[in-house]
Formats: sequence, C-alpha cells, structure tokens
Amino acid sequence: PRSILFSRHGESLYNLDQRLGGDPALSPNGEKYSEALPGLIEKLMGDQELTLWTSTLKRTIQTGSKLKYPRLQWKALDELDAGVCEGLTYEEVEERHPEEYAMRNENKFEFRYRGGESYRDVVLRLEPVIMELERQQNLLIISHQAVLRCLYAYFLNIDPQDLPYLKIPLHTVMKLTWTAYGCDIQTYKVDI
Ligand code: F6P
Repeated sequence: PRSILFSRHGESLYNLDQRLGGDPALSPNGEKYSEALPGLIEKLMGDQELTLWTSTLKRTIQTGSKLKYPRLQWKALDELDAGVCEGLTYEEVEERHPEEYAMRNENKFEFRYRGGESYRDVVLRLEPVIMELERQQNLLIISHQAVLRCLYAYFLNIDPQDLPYLKIPLHTVMKLTWTAYGCDIQTYKVDI
C-alpha cells in the first residue's frame, strides 16, 4: 500500500472517566473530531482514492461518519475485550480485581482478562486484517488504542513487550508511508 492512515475514534463518553471497553457513543469533543476529520484527510491525501476501515463499535463508526469514502467494518478491529473488567475504571479494577490488576502490571502483553483477551490474542486476531491490508492501496483505519498499538508495532517492528505501552493519543492521525528505505511515520494532531 502507499499510505496507511491510523486514528483512534474521537473521545468517547467512557474516555471521560477512563472506563474500559463497552460500546459508548462519542462525547461532544469526540463529535468535533469527527467533524474535523474530512478536512484533515483531504489535506493529507488530496483527491487520491481511500478506503475507510472501522471496527463494529459505535465510537469508530461515528468518528468516520462524516467521511465520503467507501467503507468496511471489521470485528477484528474491535477494542481488546476486557472481559469481567469491561465498563470499569482502572481504580475499580484495582479495587474489585486486585489480583488481575497486579498480574497485568507484571506482564501486560501476555495478561488475559478473565472472559476477555490479552494483547497477544489481539495480535493473533489481527492476522487476517494485516493480510488484507498488505493488498490494499490507501487506507484509513479508525480503531482503538490497544488494536492500533498492535498494528503500529507490526509495521515498525516493535518488541511485543513494549507494544502495550506505546502512546497512541486521541484526536491524532498517524500517516505511514512506504519509501525505498522503509516505513516513514508522521502524526497530525487536531486541536479541539
Ligand atoms: O481506555 C480506552 C481503552 O481503549 C480501553 O477500552 C482499553 O481497555 C484500553 O484503552 C487499552 O489500554 P490499556 O491496555 O493501556 O489498558
């Protein structure tokens, strides 16, 4: 592919108090991001063709809703499933599931939430996405923090142990471009 653009969904109602997972709608700031996105993407891509991939969760679909490109939803792009901790804040996880909280801090890549997933599980379920992605031209992928950490690490050859700590900020588009020398990455932050 020539360029792959990545973005997290706009700020969600759960992001406001750092709640895990769920299927929340965008916050008012998240909606502003969805409104700013068409202008930014046009600036980055001109009139080149682009395909939009989102997850099946409301917050990514809403974030892409103002864009005019052909689109596809992938369940494999849904956020890491936090199992019994879905919908909780990090403080609530620490209070209600102290052992899990400690185990996660020990090995964040391997730790699997009870009834949910680990980062390793997400890497595995992304395999078909990556295979299809290799065959595509320009793509915009609107997904989630943990999933984008895995995709980013794949392209930039980042060690699995470091992957769960990568910084993927909200309201920022990352543009990966392939040159003769490898993968070049630029980031564009939208001020809301
Ligand atoms: O807080 C937003 C979020 O996307 C959660 O839904 C998800 O569980 C979490 O980030 C993943 O980040 P971390 O693995 O650092 O908890």
